[in-house]
Amino acid sequence: SGIAVLAIDGPSASGKGSVAQRVADALGFAYLDSGALYRLSALAAKQAGVVWSDELGVACIAAALDVRFEVGLTLLNGRDVSAQIRSEEIGVGASQIAAFAVVRQALLARQRDFALAPGLVADGRDMGSVVFPQAELKIYLTASAKVRAERRYAQLIGRGDAADLAAITHDLQERDARDAARAEAPLRQWPDALLLETSDLSLDQVVEQVISWWKTRS
Ligand code: C5P
Repeated sequence: SGIAVLAIDGPSASGKGSVAQRVADALGFAYLDSGALYRLSALAAKQAGVVWSDELGVACIAAALDVRFEVGLTLLNGRDVSAQIRSEEIGVGASQIAAFAVVRQALLARQRDFALAPGLVADGRDMGSVVFPQAELKIYLTASAKVRAERRYAQLIGRGDAADLAAITHDLQERDARDAARAEAPLRQWPDALLLETSDLSLDQVVEQVISWWKTRS
């Protein structure tokens, strides 16, 4: 399609979501949080009593997902689950079901439907490699494991959730290892993606860098 796509991939808690949302707003583009679809599938499976190891069961749930994204709100079957899908438990479940090819396949068309004029900013693990290989700009956004764990910790505490830094660090490492090691759409910095290391940058600086790369893309 002729729709402009900016793909931002990277590990958990790298700040992709905030960056992608801000860049989309600045460019007047739509925004796809692809991780939310994996989180929603994990939650919907749990609610339906389908265990996360049941790949066909979860794939059916993923294919039939009744979800609506509104500003700052994510609705599953008409109910607001924005906070629920951000829990560490659902994050771990999302990364378990994301390893299954049938589950990824079930979510593919739904993700591509987000590419509407004038353009799309999409964040995830395989935006540039699988879902939007034609993307005009691909960025691999990351930060050190320590900084990412601290960011996730601050996020949870800020929401009033209980959080344990050591447990979060452990979860992030496990999740990233699983996302990188899987056969299907592994998390990786592919050669056609620009590396953006954000450990020492503010959100504003990261957003500025992405927009400047977008404006000067070839
Ligand atoms: O980005 P987020 O942490 O919300 O994603 C949750 C999980 O969903 C990731 O750990 C990853 O396993 C999976 N995911 C994926 N491909 C994507 C987005 C997320 O496999 N494009």
